[in-house]
Amino acid sequence: MERNNMRLVCCITLFFVIIAVSTAKTVFGTQEPTKVVCFYNAGAHTRDGQAKFTLEDLQIAFPHCTHVIYGYAAISEKFKKLIPLNENFDVNQQHYKKVVDLKNRLNNRLPKPKIILSVGGGADISGEDDEKNIQYRDLLESAALRTTFINSAYETVKKYGFDGIDLAWEFPETKPKKIRSKIGSFFHSIKTKVIGPSVIDKKAEDHRQQFIALVRELKRTMAMDNLLVSVTVLPNVNSTVYYDPKALAPHLDFVNLMAYDFYTPARNPEEADYTSPLFELVDRRFDENIDFQVNYWTRNGAPANKIVLGIPTFARAWQMTTDSNINGIPPLTVDGPAEQGPFTRDAGLLSYAEVCQMIEGKKTPALTTPPTGSYLVEKDTSRRRGPYAYLLPGPNSKGAWISFENPDYAVAKATYVKSKGLGGVAINDLTLDDFKGSCSYERYPILQAVSNHLTKPY
Ligand SMILES: *[C@@H]1O[C@H](CO)[C@@H](O)[C@H](O)[C@H]1NC(C)=O
Repeated sequence: MERNNMRLVCCITLFFVIIAVSTAKTVFGTQEPTKVVCFYNAGAHTRDGQAKFTLEDLQIAFPHCTHVIYGYAAISEKFKKLIPLNENFDVNQQHYKKVVDLKNRLNNRLPKPKIILSVGGGADISGEDDEKNIQYRDLLESAALRTTFINSAYETVKKYGFDGIDLAWEFPETKPKKIRSKIGSFFHSIKTKVIGPSVIDKKAEDHRQQFIALVRELKRTMAMDNLLVSVTVLPNVNSTVYYDPKALAPHLDFVNLMAYDFYTPARNPEEADYTSPLFELVDRRFDENIDFQVNYWTRNGAPANKIVLGIPTFARAWQMTTDSNINGIPPLTVDGPAEQGPFTRDAGLLSYAEVCQMIEGKKTPALTTPPTGSYLVEKDTSRRRGPYAYLLPGPNSKGAWISFENPDYAVAKATYVKSKGLGGVAINDLTLDDFKGSCSYERYPILQAVSNHLTKPY
């Protein structure tokens, strides 16, 4: 009898211990939810027609995002302080405040995203050549200027009620691969011997160290108020050169890795290629793929769960020529950016809504220039390279070759994120997804496909 009771007590105790442990796991968040970081380009309110993005559109996305990143703030050339990129819109018309307020309008049962202000992002453009965005490097070089910047960032975040700051730091980009004729390369090799080819930043090693100091000091200031600090690695900024994962990670809540735009019409006007392959492809550089970029960070000391994989919602489009290989297989000879999209109006770039309409052939009354001919689509069943579509040049059309993102490929990337135990995904950006659902069955098809996939338990 006695012994039986003992057994029962043991059993019950064990039962409660198990319950307690599993509760602690959820409550104390050893299993932190996967991040869905939504970039929001505030400049998209100036686009026309279908591409015009409103606060109402933004609000629809909120429940799918754990973080919303407001792009972008700038750094003043003169005083190296954080300033609004568009003072009239951001401050006078109170767009900072309106975006932060959207959170409070959400139904209380819905989780509320953290709203973070991002600096740089490629939107803050000043100077040319070696002087391009020099304030981002000047600021790093002086402890006093770093403090000025940190104080201005802290004040702005507090004043408008943001939940943190993101540094989408505008380090110099790598030089694009040049394609030259035999004679051209002869002269090129003479020239490069004279001026030195690939030195884009002579003080790169100093800047790498000073950036660590900036992040450490920034986090110390922000942490006092429980504010977040993240870093966004922009496309074509060489992580190996500028980012020390081991030294940075302890001071960061997460890192958004913009592992796409390995090729763009602006940087590679003569050669089109996959813009964001997941894995290394034959005859390409070893570092032109997502897997290399992720591994650089995780193998050099950043915990995988702090790495957030950037997924574009836009496509890159080049002009095909009669010299282009007619089978469409990249890399492909091309002639600069393709014509601008009917709504985004930015040569060489197309939103997913535009790609979807052109490729799926869905007609909308607002489409002023209906595509003639029809696109041939390579869907990429391997899900390792990404889909592309092309239209051969003909009497009625100039032709185009488009490397794009769609819900399928974005889900393949989300699967990769899960398999590597990464912290989540960063959608860049909301305003270039099919946010109105003009071509899809739902609004934000890329965002929704990814966030649904990540929240599935398997
Ligand atoms: C990035 O930097 C590393 C180290 O200097 C170099 O080996 C690599 O080629 C660079 N990548 C690009 C794309 O320039």
